[in-house]
Amino acid sequence: MQTSDRIPTRKEIENIGVYTPGKPLEEVRRELGITHVIKLASNENPNGCSPLVKEAIIQELSNAALYPESTAPELTSKLALMLGVQQDQIITGNGSDEIIRLLTRSYVRTGDEVIMANVTFPRYETNVQIEGGIVVTVPLVEGAHDLEEMLRAINHRTRMIFVCNPNNPTGTIVGEEELLTFIQKVPPHVILVIDEAYYEYVQDSDYLQTLPLLASYPNLVVLRTFSKIYGLASLRMGYGIMHPTIVQSLIKVKEPFNTNRLAQVAAIASLDDEAFVTSCVQDNAEGRNYLEQELVRMGLTYFQSHANFLMIHMNRSGQDVFQGLLAEGVIVRSGTLLGYPETIRVTIGTPEENKAFIQALEKVLTTA
Ligand SMILES: Cc1ncc(COP(=O)(O)O)c(C=O)c1O
Repeated sequence: MQTSDRIPTRKEIENIGVYTPGKPLEEVRRELGITHVIKLASNENPNGCSPLVKEAIIQELSNAALYPESTAPELTSKLALMLGVQQDQIITGNGSDEIIRLLTRSYVRTGDEVIMANVTFPRYETNVQIEGGIVVTVPLVEGAHDLEEMLRAINHRTRMIFVCNPNNPTGTIVGEEELLTFIQKVPPHVILVIDEAYYEYVQDSDYLQTLPLLASYPNLVVLRTFSKIYGLASLRMGYGIMHPTIVQSLIKVKEPFNTNRLAQVAAIASLDDEAFVTSCVQDNAEGRNYLEQELVRMGLTYFQSHANFLMIHMNRSGQDVFQGLLAEGVIVRSGTLLGYPETIRVTIGTPEENKAFIQALEKVLTTA
């Protein structure tokens, strides 16, 4: 093929790497030639999704030839009722990934600074770079956001701040008072994005409910998703709750049909199954307790997680442990790509998956 050297890409994207997701099950089966593989790498729901979702999708398939409604009004109206906000405060996206992109697309100009933790969800950084913004990182302290330092990093060039709560990949949360004080102190010219992708898993009472604050802080944006507790990761449905004027800006830059019909009906149906959500939260807490006890028994430490994953300190190359586990048919995430080279991040699975992970980990650690 001829080279395309004469068609240079925009300089902003020259040094951006391609996102490396958790290794897919299908890929590992193909590469290792084994059929029994467990994936605990992408913080998906091991219980799948509500049975109501399957019925809704089957019914909606007959409309597959028709474009979906552009702003998913049935879903946003249902969410508004559930969350106690106005419908015009909600925008749905092709995963909350898309809302992150719409936010940076709409608000970050070349040279604007955007503050985020080091380390946190990597899509914030990439999207800021795509727009030519400057990423300002503030190190985590024991895996948790250092909000005081983040405040100190604000200047007249600051355009946006991301706080991931619980934080991916560490699973830590910031305390209620601390976050409230932070929200109060962030100047109104700065958009403060609080990513609550793992909101539903949090059981700690020291966790700030952010939605009631939206009325007083027009610069506040809250992100949630159907990919985690609702088990709809493949369908791509996330949403953001924010001031209606921000929603209107994001709508201008989104694809007209960014969320598809099946995802819309699946999300609506999944909101009707509260019992499913409650049992997943319970199962996750039990799975996390089990893993924590086993890790303590093995003399391993981990960050205090409030989400559906644990980041574990291995005191050796996380990449090696990842490879060792892979050979045992267990896919986790190596901390190398996540900013903590001596860790692995494991998603809480079913009781059988958790047990298989611990057995494989013991084997890898004793044979390495
Ligand atoms: C903190 C955080 N935000 C956003 C996302 C994106 O989720 P989705 O695009 O599937 O809604 C993820 C996915 O892992 C995440 O961990």
